[in-house]
This record gives sequence, C-alpha cells and structure tokens, in this order.
Amino acid sequence: MGLRKDFLWGGATAANQCEGAYNLGGRGLANVDLIPVGEDRWAVVEGRMKMFEFDDEHFYPAKGAIDMYHRYKEDIALFAEMGFKTYRLSIGWSRIFPIGDEETPNEEGLQFYEDLFKECHKYNIEPLVTITHFDCPMGLVEKYGSWRSREMITFYERLVTALFTRYKGLVKYWLTFNEINVILHAPFMGGGIYLEEGENRQEVLYQAIHHELVASALATKIAHEIDPNNMVGCMLAAGQYYPLTCKPEDVWASHVSNRENYFFVDVQARGYYPTYALKKFEKEGINIKMEPEDAEILRKYPVDFISFSYYQTRTTAAQVDELSEGNLIPSVTNPYLEQSEWGWQIDPLGLRTTLNSLYERYQKPLFIVENGLGAVDTVEEDGSINDDYRIDYMRKHIKEMIKAVDEDGVDLLGYTMWGPIDLVSAGTGEMKKRYGFIYVDRDNYGNGTLDRSRKKSFYWYKRVIETNGEDLG
Ligand code: BG6
Repeated sequence: MGLRKDFLWGGATAANQCEGAYNLGGRGLANVDLIPVGEDRWAVVEGRMKMFEFDDEHFYPAKGAIDMYHRYKEDIALFAEMGFKTYRLSIGWSRIFPIGDEETPNEEGLQFYEDLFKECHKYNIEPLVTITHFDCPMGLVEKYGSWRSREMITFYERLVTALFTRYKGLVKYWLTFNEINVILHAPFMGGGIYLEEGENRQEVLYQAIHHELVASALATKIAHEIDPNNMVGCMLAAGQYYPLTCKPEDVWASHVSNRENYFFVDVQARGYYPTYALKKFEKEGINIKMEPEDAEILRKYPVDFISFSYYQTRTTAAQVDELSEGNLIPSVTNPYLEQSEWGWQIDPLGLRTTLNSLYERYQKPLFIVENGLGAVDTVEEDGSINDDYRIDYMRKHIKEMIKAVDEDGVDLLGYTMWGPIDLVSAGTGEMKKRYGFIYVDRDNYGNGTLDRSRKKSFYWYKRVIETNGEDLG
C-alpha cells in the first residue's frame, strides 16, 4: 500500500517567474516580461491593455525575478537537500528562439538548460520540463499575433525538435503547455493574445487553442520519434466545479463549467473534439479553421499522461451574483471552505475528487504538478520562518492525494508542489505572495539581497519525501 516506490516528489517553477536575466544569453523579449506588477496587471494579462514594450511608469518583476539564471546551482543543491526526486521547470522559449521564427536555435540558450539539467542529474533529480509556461516570444506576438496564426505550429515544432534532440537522455518527462485552459481567461499571459476592439473573442481564442492542440499532438509525435522513452503530458488548471446548491439548474451549470475545462484534456488525451464542443461552436457561431490533416494528427498522438495544477475547487450556479478570487479563474464563494490571504478557497478533499474525476474519465496516469499555499511569511529576529500554515495546507492535501491512490486506485506518477523557492506570483506579480520552502529576500519592487534561507516547511517536506509520504508530521 502507499505511493509507488519511484513516486516523483519535488517542486515546480516557471522560467519567467524565477530566472530573471531577461536580456542575457541572447534571450529575446517575451509576453511574460511585459506584465507589470500593480493595478494595470490584469488589463495586460487579459489582453485588454496593449503593453508590447516597457515603459517608465511600471515595474516589471519578471525582468530580474529571483535571478535563478545565475543561482540555479545553489537552488538545485537546496532542492537536493530536501531529497527532491524531480524538479519541474520551464523553458524560456525566447532563450532558444529569441524572435521565434528563426531557422536555428540560440546556442547559448540551449547550453544554459543543458547545464541546468546536468546539475539536476548530479543529485539524481529527474527534470520534468514544461515546454512553454505561458511564454511566447514577442517577435511572434508582433509578427503573427501569436497563437491566432497557424504558422505558430511550425515555430513550436522547431522549438520542440531542438529541445528533444539536444536533451535526449537528459530529459524524459515533458509537458506541452502549462495550464492550457488559462488562455480562455488570461489571453495575453496565457498565450500572447492581445484582443482588438470588436473582435469575436471566443472565435479568436478557440482558433488559438486549436493551433495549440495540434502543436501539442505534433510534439508528442516528435518526442516519441526522437526518443521512444520520452513521456509527454498535457497540463490543466484543474479543480472540480461544484454546484452551489442541488437545484438542477445549478448542477447543470457546474457540469457545463467542468466540461469547459475537460475540453482540453478530452482532445489531448482522447484525440478528438468532443461533440459538446462542436455543438457549442455551431450554436455560438464560432468558426474554427481546421486543416484536413488535423483530425488525424490529434487522433494519432494523444498524450502519455495527464498533469494538472490544483489549488482549489470552484463553485458555480445558474445565477452568479458575486465572485471570489481564484487561480486565474474566479468562482462563487463556497460557504463551507476557508480562504487563503489572497481569497483562494482551500479544499483538500477537492483534490481527491479532482484526481478521481480525471482518472475515471481518462484512465491515464496522472501527475500533480502544482499545489501549494501563497502566503505572507514573517522572518523572525533569529532569521527563522515558521510557516506552519503552509505545512498544514500541504499535509491536508497530501493526505487526500494518498487516499486517492490507496483507497481509490488512482495511478499517480508524482507530486511537485508549486514554488519550492519563493518566486514572482503569476496572478499578482508580487513577491510577498510566497509559496516556498526556501525564502528569497526580495520584495515586490525588486529590493533585497536575493539571499536564500530555509523555512520550517523545508525540513517538514524533507521528512515527507524521506518516508515516501508515510510521515506527514
Ligand atoms: C498557476 C501557474 O496558475 O498557479 C503558476 O501555473 C502560478 O505560474 C501558480 O504561479 C500560482 O498562482 P499565483 O497567482 O499565486 O502565482
């Protein structure tokens, strides 16, 4: 009983939220660099406010982030000290193809990740690589309108071919697009899409999504051709939708919301567009251009496993009056749940429900690649950080995760909590919203020494990994 012996415990980060060094090593500018902290952030994230270059009025936290570009050795050594079996990180696309449409990759960028992967292997840490975590080179945004253009598929194929070839033997686990469903809610951050006034939003977004889905399937094809050991997964911002009441209309609303999310995995795992999606397109006048070969590409190259982030469940109703905050997707407040300092609802049992729903629907191995608590930490006078609230959150979630495996039989490959080291928040751009076991001395506006220190949770997670989840403290 218990988790598999080779269960992949670890942590997850994203290039733009930790690397910094936005203009070093030949790196080009990306959409994610241009999202400022502060009150304009959401307008930029949602593609309502055009921010294609830096201005003097805003602070752009991704430019420097936590400078992992220069400090990854120190950080990986700390992950190793906790006993990580895996480290999930993402590739900065514009490090590899600075403009995006070049024929050949940037050697300095390729070398950077090669060194990083070798550093992981020094400690027997298996890299788990997200090919794109929200980022898109600005060259592609400006010249092609990002994923709204079909040519993006070619550029993405070039990217993945470069990665699979260069890192053959160094990387086995790949994720094609981080939280692919987020593009519907955060078009510029999630996919480099800026929406012009009067555009048919749904049509633009579902067209972009179609291109991503085809690109994702082609990545699976290429990955297997280059190395049959490669395992390719999709990645969903998951979290079951609950109906606010048992009123049939509320139950129906939650069903519709659930499948708006499942839609992505339905295509990526089963290999075809579900009928409910085709009906929606028809009914709402959403015309998606598909090439004749697309259906076969989707059918022939489904993903090997399904990965997802889980922070919370969401609640919905037929009549929605007020929304509460959440992981990029607000929802109705669930009166039975507590909330984090940022208003995210906390629901450990919801993780078990979500794991079961995904497993029952797809019958493919699952991987939890994000879960954690964003909170304000206090550094005591003696330098200690006693983040019991974080330990409590994680303990409760891991308990439910183990039940899903032990009692329900879910096939689970691993668990990488979000942000093992404090990093820039994707939602708010803040540093003070911290997830880490490792504290980073930096504030929302880039002040601080960038020194790293261990929080109480660091030692707790080390013990969890050591005992393969038997001792949750
Ligand atoms: C997920 C993203 O949405 O949640 C991460 O994949 C993000 O990039 C994480 O950081 C936590 O969200 P936030 O807004 O607290 O940083």
